[in-house]
Amino acid sequence: MIEARNINKSFDNIQVLHDININFEQGKQNLIIGQSGSGKTVLLKCLVGLFEPDNGQVLFDDRDFTAMNLSKRKNIRKEIGMLFQGSALFDSMTVMENVIFPLLMFSDMSKEEQIERANFCIERVGLSGAHNKLPSEISGGMQKRAAIARAISLNPKYLFCDEPNSGLDPKTGVLIDQLIEEITREFQITTIINTHDMNSVLEHGDKINYIYQGKLWWQGNKDEFLATENAELQDFIYSTEILKRLKPKR
Ligand SMILES: Nc1ncnc2c1ncn2[C@@H]1O[C@H](COP(=O)(O)OP(=O)(O)OP(=O)(O)O)[C@@H](O)[C@H]1O
Ligand SMILES: [Mg+2]
Repeated sequence: MIEARNINKSFDNIQVLHDININFEQGKQNLIIGQSGSGKTVLLKCLVGLFEPDNGQVLFDDRDFTAMNLSKRKNIRKEIGMLFQGSALFDSMTVMENVIFPLLMFSDMSKEEQIERANFCIERVGLSGAHNKLPSEISGGMQKRAAIARAISLNPKYLFCDEPNSGLDPKTGVLIDQLIEEITREFQITTIINTHDMNSVLEHGDKINYIYQGKLWWQGNKDEFLATENAELQDFIYSTEILKRLKPKR
């Protein structure tokens, strides 16, 4: 479990996050949803230490990450996989080179073990045969798969995904969601996903955290989500004409 406790974050005296308290559960896809600019990426970066919160604590399985020095934080960082918005693969490296990179950097494995692990991850995400392709030679969906393979190469306990569906068609987006769901359950990862993709929320929303103007505004599951009476959340859900047609009549 990852616990965010009383997280505040400002930039130049403008407060972006206001006293965020969330427990993210192990073996689950914990969703963070909210409008563009609401603070989802800033929160994710505070959780992994890419931003320092102004105050508050982040605990990884009861270990206070915020209070640790850099060398202690490194041990937790090795347990974290990150899937960045836009995949962020190294353009000049093949799929294999991208996936093996974290193992070269951070693992104590022998060369043979690294190759075996990278092959396992590439196959696990359904990219058999694409080992030697460059990112520019594969589709956007395949790039996401490669980025997922890289994110899980170190067998992470924690997986952070920032908008994993961005730039994908809805069908491919659903397949990527399913892959993340399977991996989360299979390896009992604590997964945190930033999204504003309504398909993802309705398919995988067991643990939904809605952020509104930098505040944790609402929490619940997908059934509670659709039935909500919360005005700001309703505004977010039923933001298009098509979605308004789904709105339950009262
Ligand atoms: N490095 C930074 N310096 C100053 N302000 C920042 C910085 N990073 C983010 N912000 C501000 O924090 C607010 C929240 O941004 P954030 O990127 O977290 O939004 P988001 O919810 O992830 O949006 P989106 O859905 O578009 O990705 C925005 O007003 C943004 O301008
Ligand atoms: Mg964002």
